[in-house]
Amino acid sequence: MKIFKNKIDLIKYVDSLKSEKNTLGFVPTMGALHQGHASLIIKGLEQNDFVGVSVFVNPTQFDNKEDLIKYPRTLDNDVALLKTISEEKVIVYAPTVEDIYGENVVSTSFSYDGLEHEMEGRFRDGHFDGVGTIVKRLFEIVRPDKAYFGEKDFQQLMIIKKLVEKYNIPVTVIGCKIHREKDGLAMSSRNTRLKPAYRAAAPFIFKTLQTAKEKFATKSANKVTEWVNKQFANHDLLALEYFIIADIKTLKTVKRKSNKKSYRAFIAVYADDIRLIDNIALN
Ligand code: PAF
Repeated sequence: MKIFKNKIDLIKYVDSLKSEKNTLGFVPTMGALHQGHASLIIKGLEQNDFVGVSVFVNPTQFDNKEDLIKYPRTLDNDVALLKTISEEKVIVYAPTVEDIYGENVVSTSFSYDGLEHEMEGRFRDGHFDGVGTIVKRLFEIVRPDKAYFGEKDFQQLMIIKKLVEKYNIPVTVIGCKIHREKDGLAMSSRNTRLKPAYRAAAPFIFKTLQTAKEKFATKSANKVTEWVNKQFANHDLLALEYFIIADIKTLKTVKRKSNKKSYRAFIAVYADDIRLIDNIALN
């Protein structure tokens, strides 16, 4: 398996693949890979000759220092998982912070036509500037034909589509459905950090989303939101940060339902100090 730690070598290798007319898929990750990532890579391999996977915990997208320090870093396990998918067709880029940022570990400021001001953008200061900075840089280095992102980070997916459109980046961005554990918990690298009691409580998040979806068929967004807030009000272990029903195009909170629009419910919950997000299509 080809594992690159610096961009110069990776760029040369990608040049050689392209000179032989190979197509390249790309799955950017922050490591601690799980079956959700695996499914993106497998989809990438179905649609391309090779798939690049970046493993890089991007410091500029963390608004919380503790979260950055504690974010799981498991490169050996990640490589082992990638080898089970394909040793030949998967290429790993696991750079150092310096290889990406040099001495200047800062993000560029981006406008995503307002998408950045909703939900995660409200609660995580500078997060989408950090995401835009790293994804744009990785796209410039890896130069994939197609890139794959999970719908668990639905707002991120929309923002990356906007980034590509605004900067004319020649990459097709493909959204892939959320992968869940058997009990419904959305797969996330952060799940490995949940203490047992919190891990046992966490499926409540998706159960609540499912019931919210049923209720949304007959009730207003406000009523459903009130109901969800109540479910978490007295929860012993899970603290709701937000629950929002939004238009999937603008990500703005819905005031009056229209049957011409598509909506999703978005949720962020603290399980102890671990922040979990999830979402569900409502119609
Ligand atoms: O979704 C993630 O894991 C990260 O935000 C990404 C896209 C790899 C950028 O660091």
